[in-house]
Amino acid sequence: MASHVHLGHVFHVAGSALVTGAADALVSIPDGALVVDESGDIVYCGERTELPAESGTVHDHRPGYLLPGFVDTHVHFPQTYAGDSYGGGQLLEWLNQCIFPSESKFADPEFAQQAAVEFCARRIAAGTTAAMVFGSAFPHAQDSLFTETRRAGLRLVSGRGIQTVGPETARSLITSEADAIRLTREEIDKWHAADTGDVDTALLHVAIVPRFSLSVTAETLKNLGELYDEMRSRGVYVHSHLNENNRPGSGEVDSTKQAYQVDSYLDTYDGKFLPGSATGGKSLLGRRTILAHCVHCQDAELERMAQTGTSISHCPISQLFLGSGTMPWKRTVASGVNIAAGTDFGGGDEWLIPRVLGDAFKVHLTEPGDDGISMHPAEMLFMGTLAGARALDMESRFGNFDIGKEADFVVVDPSGTPALEANMAWAVRSSEPELARDQTLFALLMGIRESSINEVYVQGRRVTAE
Ligand code: GUN
Ligand code: ZN
Repeated sequence: MASHVHLGHVFHVAGSALVTGAADALVSIPDGALVVDESGDIVYCGERTELPAESGTVHDHRPGYLLPGFVDTHVHFPQTYAGDSYGGGQLLEWLNQCIFPSESKFADPEFAQQAAVEFCARRIAAGTTAAMVFGSAFPHAQDSLFTETRRAGLRLVSGRGIQTVGPETARSLITSEADAIRLTREEIDKWHAADTGDVDTALLHVAIVPRFSLSVTAETLKNLGELYDEMRSRGVYVHSHLNENNRPGSGEVDSTKQAYQVDSYLDTYDGKFLPGSATGGKSLLGRRTILAHCVHCQDAELERMAQTGTSISHCPISQLFLGSGTMPWKRTVASGVNIAAGTDFGGGDEWLIPRVLGDAFKVHLTEPGDDGISMHPAEMLFMGTLAGARALDMESRFGNFDIGKEADFVVVDPSGTPALEANMAWAVRSSEPELARDQTLFALLMGIRESSINEVYVQGRRVTAE
């Protein structure tokens, strides 16, 4: 592959900013250029007019925009066809009535294969270059997911959803304690870094994925702790849900605390899953652990996540759809924990990370009293890109356009979305350049739809659906 020059309006959050520093780290280059070398790495990001001579084949995307590829840190593969499920109400009822039956259909290998193709197509359409994907219980379905993702050239971290207990509707998703560990170990051995053989260069990675504490037992958590202790040094991930829904009487948070008799839900993932939060095994927390939702965390839980480098996948669309409430933005940010964005499809009903960022803006502005905050568009972009790369512990490889990183980016063409095109052409912008820049980025993030994502690149290579 020769060098390539991509022209367009560049936006990214540079360096290794925290969310609190995202606005200062925002880079906007209206007449910008991104140069990608033959190995797919970024060698230049700057003014078009200052391009080094003979930089390579030119791709002129103007008046389009170049953004880092979106990172979805929580999305469910076996819910590919379960978006907008009606009649389930809030979380536990919805799982029982809509989701477990939908996921059970993946027992059919042909159906699962078809879903894997669809899932990759949805990701490409949405410009989701990297994702933490909550997997199917069925190994053949996971084989299809990894195979199709590899064919597409996307990044993937995924693992089969582990369930050792549950209601009747989940019966086909549940395995014995021994099989839960055996199947997880087999998936790691088969797919972790299977594409390159090296975890530091791979596009494919495996995670250990207990569905949530109510779907497993203390014995499962103990066994998974042992397994993770063995696998940590191989760069294996952990993924689950935490503190999502506390509907009075039938909420997940109280049910979990009651079932395990623990002081906090997080304790169940932190080796302290015995009554009274006594230690019963090894922790599942760490820099390669992502916990989705975290709407109803105690301060101590947030502190522990920050301390261990565990990230939150923030999924406001899903939280609206399932009536789960709003993650308190200021308090969560203040704890220092890394907050990335997740669609949680099919709990959320959008595949597009910018839609998640838009709903994040709306719900946090609506938080009561002094808790309400107007997110800066750089914080939104950060949450959907660099924070996601950080959550996946691959920030050194992608997430922004720093020189030397692998070139994951999307080309946004407003003409694909007339409302966005009109906004970009005609909306009032401040005469103050910095505010005008922020207004443009905000309108872009709010207005992007799948129809505006024109091209998608991973490691400098264009990815396209089958
Ligand atoms: N908690 C346990 N399973 C699920 C799921 O599939 N979706 C969501 N949103 N929460 C969960
Ligand atoms: Zn989820």
